[in-house]
Amino acid sequence: MNHFEPRDGELACEDVPLRRIAEAVGTPVYVYSSATLERHFTVLRDALTGAGLKDPLIAYAVKANPNLAVLRTLGALGAGADTVSEGEVRRALAAGIPAERIVFSGVGKTAAEIAFALDAGVAEINVESEPEMRLVDRIAAERGVRAQIAIRVNPDVAAGGHAKIATGKSENKFGVSFSEAERLYAQASNAVGLKPVGVACHIGSQITDLAPMAEAFGKMRGLVERLRAEGLSVERLDLGGGLGVPYFNQPTPPSPADYAAMIGRVMQGLDIQLAFEPGRVIAANAGVLLARVLHVHERPEGRRFLVLDAAMNDLLRPAMYDAWHDIRPVAPRAGEAGPYDVVGPVCETGDTFARDRALPPFEAGDLVAFMSAGAYGASMASEYNSRPLAPEVLVKGDRYAVVRARPTYEEMLAREAAAPWL
Ligand code: LLP
Repeated sequence: MNHFEPRDGELACEDVPLRRIAEAVGTPVYVYSSATLERHFTVLRDALTGAGLKDPLIAYAVKANPNLAVLRTLGALGAGADTVSEGEVRRALAAGIPAERIVFSGVGKTAAEIAFALDAGVAEINVESEPEMRLVDRIAAERGVRAQIAIRVNPDVAAGGHAKIATGKSENKFGVSFSEAERLYAQASNAVGLKPVGVACHIGSQITDLAPMAEAFGKMRGLVERLRAEGLSVERLDLGGGLGVPYFNQPTPPSPADYAAMIGRVMQGLDIQLAFEPGRVIAANAGVLLARVLHVHERPEGRRFLVLDAAMNDLLRPAMYDAWHDIRPVAPRAGEAGPYDVVGPVCETGDTFARDRALPPFEAGDLVAFMSAGAYGASMASEYNSRPLAPEVLVKGDRYAVVRARPTYEEMLAREAAAPWL
């Protein structure tokens, strides 16, 4: 459920008509709904606590939507943060999320990033390989602290919507095998700079089937039991993110309640704190990308192009993953739906949001909304073709605020300089 619904025939975000935002801020623009973010977080939290899980840490995956106002909205509800770079750790801290709710993951953390995370006092550094564990040990020992680490395990389970976002198979770059995890955990408990607090996994994103998750989580439980049988303390089990969302014509994902119930079953009787790293399920349906139709271009061969002022640099998912986003007119015109190719102005054929999409009639100047664009939309945007980053707006009830302004062309150019010999 989200809060983008028609009001008096026009699409609104909560109580604010999208047209008002487009007129005031310009297009393309990302628009987020506070009520939807809050609802998604509380539904998931209530489902997890309702399934009898003790004090779960819900560390929102910052990469999905790292806007400070989004982080602040979720942080105020008790969300932690799953981060994968110093930049994300800094964002989470700047948004007021306490370090003890921040998890630092990622396959290749630099020494500087690890040092920063240790100095900030993050709850857990998820180490993904033996060399990385050695590096964390050395940096922590130099500082006279013991880094709280979790070993990221690759459970070798296939899951996730698209090959580019599946992470849980052994051929993927993420994490270590179960046997390696046992060896590393034992070593870590004797290292001067390390305090192993748990084990972690994340098997992929946009997962719409609970079975692979249940399989992976069952294997993780087995690992915790083996480690404990060896006399090692395991306080936390981090199950990652990955729960899918409905992108309209995709398979219907399990509800947070079904997800939580499955976890309750798999973990029954295991006395442990569970951690989660949900991104998409919190943010995707809490945001839209609002764009304007520049031209309706009919080719004599019969194709009809809807040329928008948004492009692949603003919303990369269709070009990168063949992702399907629902495209809605903000103020639908009467008339029969017909097929459109919806494209952006970037000089690549890949800059195509949809082909042969049945849509109602459009005219130049009309507004369209790309639905479910709150996760991995703005966060993956670039300035390709020297197009300034789209601004971001957060709505709450009948109010809205620009939470990231559109950079001016002057700002864009001022970041660069001529080399001395030019
Ligand atoms: N934890 C880890 C370690 C991750 O790598 C990810 C996502 C998450 C949590 C959050 O997963 P989520 O709950 O959002 O599925 N750009 C792609 C998605 C990439 C996901 C990468 N890792 C897309 O637009 O579909």
